[in-house]
Parts: sequence; C-alpha cells; structure tokens
Amino acid sequence: MKVTVVGAGAVGASCAEYIAIKNFASEVVLVDIKEGFAEGKAMDLMQTSSLNGFDTKITGTTGDYSKTAGSDVCVITSGIARKPGMSRDELLGINASIVKMVSASLIEQSPNTIIIVVSNPMDTMTYLVHKTTGLPKNRIIGMGGALDSARFKYRLAEALEAPISDVDGMVIGGHSDKGMVPLTRLATRNSVSVSEFLSEERLEQVKQDTKVGGATLTGLLGTSAWYAPGAAVSGMVQAIACDTKKIFPCSALLDGEYGLSDLCIGVPVVLGKNGIEKIVSINLSDAEKAHLAASAEAVKNNNASLNL
Ligand code: 2OP
Repeated sequence: MKVTVVGAGAVGASCAEYIAIKNFASEVVLVDIKEGFAEGKAMDLMQTSSLNGFDTKITGTTGDYSKTAGSDVCVITSGIARKPGMSRDELLGINASIVKMVSASLIEQSPNTIIIVVSNPMDTMTYLVHKTTGLPKNRIIGMGGALDSARFKYRLAEALEAPISDVDGMVIGGHSDKGMVPLTRLATRNSVSVSEFLSEERLEQVKQDTKVGGATLTGLLGTSAWYAPGAAVSGMVQAIACDTKKIFPCSALLDGEYGLSDLCIGVPVVLGKNGIEKIVSINLSDAEKAHLAASAEAVKNNNASLNL
C-alpha cells in the first residue's frame, strides 16, 4: 500500500506519522514545494521508526511527482492554513489553484488512486477535484466530518465526565463553523442516549463548542490544528487500505442523497478498498434536515465562487 501526502506541513507530517505508526502502509511519500522540507520531515520521521516500531518507508520529495507514481491513496493537505479570526472560506481563492494543480499532478502519476482532500474550504475543494479531474465519485473523499466528530466526542466526554471510549457521536454537514450538524440526538454513552445524562442546554453548549473546535485551536495556536486533523485522515486511509468497511462522516459528491445534489458535503459513508463503498442514509429529524439544507446552501455558494 503506497500513500502520498501532499503538503509536509504540520497536518501532512502528522498524517504521515500516524500512518507509519499504524504500520499498514509499505510506503508514504511526502511532497512539498519548499526545497528540502519534505525530505527533511521524511528523514526525521524515519529516524523514529526503530523507536516507534514501524517498517513503513517514508520518503520526501520537493515537487517531483514521479516519486508518487502508483500511489493507492493520495492525501491533499497543501495550501494555506487559517490564521486567528479567519474563516476556512477565506482560503478558497488561493487554495483552489493549488488543489487543482496538485490533483492533476497526482492523477497523472497514479490514475487509479483514491484522493482524500483536507485543504480548506474542504467541501468546496473536494467538489473542485471532482469537477476538474473526472475521477469516479467514489474515489474522491473530503476529510472534515471525521475530525469534527472526534471533537464532538471530546466535548461529549468532557460534559459527561466519561471515558471517551464510552462515547459515540457523529457530525455531518459542511466543514465550517456554521455548517456543521452535530447529531446530539443520536449520540450515545455506551449505547445510552446522551440526553439521559445531559440537559438540552448542556448539549447545546457541546454542539457550539464542537462547531468552533477548529477556530478555538487556531486562536490558541496562532495557526490551524494538526494532530487531530492528521489522525482523522490517517484513520480514513487505514479504512481504505485495510478495506475495513468502517463508517465515517466524509464529504462526498451527492446525487439526490439527503435531497441534495451537485455538491460535496459531510454524510455517513462506508469506507473500503474502493474508497466510498456506499453513502449511508440515516433518518434525520426535521431540525437536522433543515440545518443540513442550510449548510448545503452555504457550500453551494462557495462552489459558485470557483467559476467552473
Ligand atoms: C480544522 O478544523 C484544519 O479545518 C481543519 O482544524
């Protein structure tokens, strides 16, 4: 299993590290445009292999996409990250040209690859890759919901004062502060609805804290987060590599599912060797449907800015 990660910044390097430590991939290639940066990150990571017990071979290249040839999965993290006070949408103009160029370069070397888009605004960047590459829609996946759901579970466990291993929950919708739809109604503490333990007010606070999870960290760190994004995308790569058929909320191109079409937005999908094996339909409440529809409207407005 060969994986390429484009962008050797904090998110890309964390993704590469987690993939290596999970030891399911034979090779990870890090790509960056900054001279020597990907090569340095790869060498530093390789020097942890005896310490962290992995055999994955990590290499780096400065923009030589021939080194990525034959990749089974390609992760796109390249582009600029948010600064405090910025929205993900503000990155659209710059990141769109980067993502378009990167995806074309990747597919030229790996025509059968599965692409996972991380670059923001992620739902629109994922849509851009669909529209500019023509890859089958099951092979283009956006990573947002896996991260947002991890933050949701963190906030739920905090509110419940429970071990996070007892908590399950999912966030669907757009990967944006207003567009996320944390499904508190379906969240559980070891199969028991969280509403048995938490008031509506507390659950509302959990939802709000989840939705600004990225912005909270950007305010603290001065740049966007990297550990949880890297871990979230590495879990998706593992599901594909190992054909686990796990369900993740991912940004997928919809064609009528959830009453939505011609956009990418976070919905539950089964991930396996073919990428998106299936889009999972779940029954939503009227309020959840309305929130998802509003989220979709905002994503479509962003997509219109691409002038495709
Ligand atoms: C985040 O929410 C980078 O969009 C990512 O941290």
